[in-house]
Amino acid sequence: MVIVLILLFFYDDDNDDFYTNIKEIKEPNDLIVLVNKNNILPKDYTPNDLRLINNRYAFDNKYLREEAAIAFENLSADASSLGYKIIATSTYRDYEYQGKLFNEYTNSKGLDYALLCSAKPGHSEHQTGLAVDVEGSNGNYDDFEKSIEFNWMKENAHKYGFILRYPKGKEHITGFKYEPWHYRYVGIEHATNIYNKNITLEEYKKQ
Ligand code: DAL
Ligand code: ZN
Repeated sequence: MVIVLILLFFYDDDNDDFYTNIKEIKEPNDLIVLVNKNNILPKDYTPNDLRLINNRYAFDNKYLREEAAIAFENLSADASSLGYKIIATSTYRDYEYQGKLFNEYTNSKGLDYALLCSAKPGHSEHQTGLAVDVEGSNGNYDDFEKSIEFNWMKENAHKYGFILRYPKGKEHITGFKYEPWHYRYVGIEHATNIYNKNITLEEYKKQ
């Protein structure tokens, strides 16, 4: 019995211990930095190469890190030439703003639901300037999966260096509900590996 319990302890490394044993991230500028419920960014971390995305591909003024901004503009431009519309609705968010969003979710939907949908401040990869929420031509990010753009994005995002960060069926690993609209820039090589292996960033970083 004791042996079985010990084995289970070591085997069960798919996190159900979210928001415990939290480690502070030492290299927040790393393009494949893992930001999640167990890895927190320094409160004052702001990427130093944020730049405005061309407003043709974003709502209002949206910022990503330089390399991610270029990749996103290329992706949206190529999509546009095929008749698709892929627009950034949320990109870089600082620590305070993330805290505000998390509280708003908690107040409107309750804590349990908020924990599945929204990261606590410091735990959102939107703070890295490498994450982008998109909407398609149906004009609602929440319904992105139903847009004509979703399938194109699913098959092509990695060619520009982006991964679908919170896939369906991987909630027990990522800690978040399926988010068809949330893409994370990791660079073309890593994105292609992750896409081909059909794994999450959590699993990729463990290899
Ligand atoms: N919605 C994602 C998990 C975030 O809040 O960063
Ligand atoms: Zn997002």
